[in-house]
Parts: sequence; structure tokens; C-alpha cells
Amino acid sequence: MKLSVIGCGYLGAVHAASMAQLGHDVVGIDTDTAKVELLAAGRVPFHEPGFEELLQSSLASGRLRFSPDMAQAAGSKVHFVCVGTPQKRGEYAADLRYVESATESLIEVLAPGELVVGKSTVPVGTAARLAELVTGKAPGALLAWNPEFLREGFAVQDTLHPDRLVYGLPAGADGDTARALLDEVYASIEADGTPQVVTDYATAEMVKTAANSFLATKISFINAMAELCEATGADVKQLADAIGYDDRIGRKFLNAGLGFGGGCLPKDIRAFMARAGELGADQALTFLREVDNINMRRRIRMVELAREVCDGSLLGKRIAVLGAAFKPDSDDIRDSPALNVAAQLQLQGATVRVTDPAAGDNIRRSWPQLDVVDSAEEAAERADAVLVLTEWKQFRELDPVAFGRVVARKAVLDGRQALDRDVWEAAGWSYRALGRRA
Ligand code: UGA
Repeated sequence: MKLSVIGCGYLGAVHAASMAQLGHDVVGIDTDTAKVELLAAGRVPFHEPGFEELLQSSLASGRLRFSPDMAQAAGSKVHFVCVGTPQKRGEYAADLRYVESATESLIEVLAPGELVVGKSTVPVGTAARLAELVTGKAPGALLAWNPEFLREGFAVQDTLHPDRLVYGLPAGADGDTARALLDEVYASIEADGTPQVVTDYATAEMVKTAANSFLATKISFINAMAELCEATGADVKQLADAIGYDDRIGRKFLNAGLGFGGGCLPKDIRAFMARAGELGADQALTFLREVDNINMRRRIRMVELAREVCDGSLLGKRIAVLGAAFKPDSDDIRDSPALNVAAQLQLQGATVRVTDPAAGDNIRRSWPQLDVVDSAEEAAERADAVLVLTEWKQFRELDPVAFGRVVARKAVLDGRQALDRDVWEAAGWSYRALGRRA
């Protein structure tokens, strides 16, 4: 089947290569010519385990190509819209300009019988509006909404083996036509027994924002418990283990620590609140404001803890920050809790050295005021405190004995429950973590 994928960022690039892997003939379109050239050469402009191999094998099959020219999308039976929906500057709402302009330029090349499939995370109501635009300006073309649930770091696995497929379709016979095309696109994934939810536009759009809101709430719930643990002397890790044994609760996404960041959860809960407000249903989501507040408080608490460990003042203290990406196996520093903490420490007079296995170049570009070094040892040289703020394997596996030789003071703050406390304490380190006993 001939497919086009509009927008070759994280979502689009992985989607395009994965669809080619499923046997389709795919063209990925992006206005950023530098990105198009890199991808066409089999090089990946971001860090994602397993993606380079997938990209290169899809290119080698001859079924995948990239172009900056929207005209190349002409003739594809299905067109996926995979562009970003960032948070508007200074507002909670999502910025839909990329989705709108991608759809408008796609309309120019659409032919009757073709299907536009939205994959971007959008405020509920967007699909219905875009469907009117598509059917109004390109008679005979249809629109469906098919949200994407991939996680960074697991993007390939999540695209090829998703937990579920959600199809938001127009009503009536048009819905049947759109469904048949989506069934053809995802035939092999459907054949694996992947659950399908076939529904209307609004539900499909909301599935995505509801899922991300639930995940954010789960993280903030355990981080609220961490605050209480700090007040009472209880241990949040044991608490999470114990409540997580209940299947109805589950242990996943109950890792207390520095909280959530990245390009999705923070902006999605804010856009959801903004949309609820527009719909007159803001009361239903006021709890998400608290979810956001709890999350942001963890960063402040981490800075306080660092100050405590540095005898009450950060001025002139040397601090090593291990980890800057919003999570391991990613070089994404959008809304990075770690960098937020690093910047606050620096503002309070500390000399901060940051290291990250993948995000170094991104930090140098976006945070030029921060001192970025290439290894944990270099970051920790003569440090008064070491902060582990992203739980990369490299940091989890540090040898506390050897590592202890480079620092001035063996004080470690574990912002992600990444380290084995007993082992570090046995090596003479003082160990502190959010939500855990001193
Ligand atoms: C998230 C969702 O998990 C995906 O399902 C969704 O498709 C994606 O957003 C999206 O909307 O595109 P992602 O942003 O890649 O995926 O990252 P997550 O694995 O959800 O982690 C988000 C943040 O929560 C990270 O900063 C992580 O460190 C933090 N986190 C996660 C915790 O603090 N504690 C946990 O227990 C789990």
C-alpha cells in the first residue's frame, strides 16, 4: 500500500520506517531539509535505541524514502499527519499551527478515496474541524484519528507492537471506508491479536490525553506520598512496592523521584485543562493542576536537599549532575526536570557540572550557561555532592568505591531511586533520596 507520513520528527520518522517494515511503500515528508537529508542517508537525528537499524533496513528495502516536497505525497492511499503540537508560549493550550498547515498543504495533493489519518496529540474537537476542512476542500477524501502511544526509548517496539489500536472514524459509510483502509495498513499488527477500539473522533482524541493524564497522575500520586514520607520518616520505595502488589494498582509508573518531564506529559495535561476550560468543563480537570504542582515541587525539593547536604549553602559548592535527558535512553531535554534543577543550583551560586550519555550536544545548544562534561567522573571531580537525576544504566552501574575517590565529599542524592542504597552506604557514601529516610 502507498503511504505518506507528514512530519518526520520522533513520531513520524519512526512511524514511516515501521510502516515500510510492514511492507508498505512509504514517503516521509518534512519541511526541514536537513532532517530529510539525514534520514534519507540512514542517519537518525535523535537518540532512539534500535531505530537506526530499522531505518537503514527500511531504506535498503527500497520501500522508504524522504522528501521535503509535499507533492511527493500525491498518489498515496493513506496520509499520516505526525507533526508536533507543542505548548503555546505563555499559555496552557496546545499550538495547532503545524497540524493545521500540514493538513492544508496536504489537501492540495489529495485525490478522492484517499484517507488522512491524524496521529498527533490534539485537543478534543480538532479532528471534527479538520474533517470538515478535508471533505470541504478535497471532495471524496476522508479523515480518521489514530492516536499514537509510543514512549521515547521504546519507540520501535511500541510502534510495531502497540498495546492497542484506536480508530476514530466518521459516522456511516465513510467510517466503514476509513476503517477498511486502516485495517489494510495495520493488517499484520491486527493479526497479532492487538486489541482495537473503533470509535468516534472525540473519543479517539480523548483516549490519548486521558491516558497521558492518568500516567501523570499516577506519578504525582506517588510523589505526593513521597512528600508525606519525608514528613513522617516513612519510605516511599517500600510503600510503592507494597501498594503495587495490588493488581488493581500495579507497580508501573509508581517510581517516586524528580517527576515527569519531556515533550508529552507536562504539555498534554496543560492542554487538556485548557481545552476543558474552553468546553466549560474545567472543574472536571482541576485535579490536574495539582498533579502539575506536585510534579514541579519535586524539583524545588531536590534543590533544598542539595542545599541541606551542602551544610545549608550552595554558594561556591561543586555539584555534579548525572543525567540531563528527561528519561534514560533518550537525548530529549524538553522540560527536563534534571536541567531545571541544575539551573536552579547554579542560580544559587553552586558550580555545576552536568553529564549525560546522549544529551550533551542538546544541552550545549539550549543551555549554554551550563558546564557540560563527557563522563560521570569528570563531572564529579572534587564535588561536594553528586546528584543522579536521570537513571541511565551507566549511572546505576557506577562503582561507588572507585567513584568515591574522585569526589571531595561522598554525598549522593538519588533523584530517581537508581542506586543500590546499601552498596553506596557500605562504600562510605551518605545517601539521600526524595521520599526516603535520611
Ligand atoms: C509518554 C507516554 O508514556 C506515552 O504512552 C505517550 O505516547 C507519549 O508520552 C506521548 O504522548 O507521545 P514519554 O514522554 O516517552 O511517553 O515518557 P514516559 O515513559 O511516559 O515518561 C515520562 C516522564 O515520567 C519521564 O520524565 C519519567 O522519568 C517520568 N516517570 C515515569 C517517573 O517520574 N516515574 C515513573 O514511575 C515513570
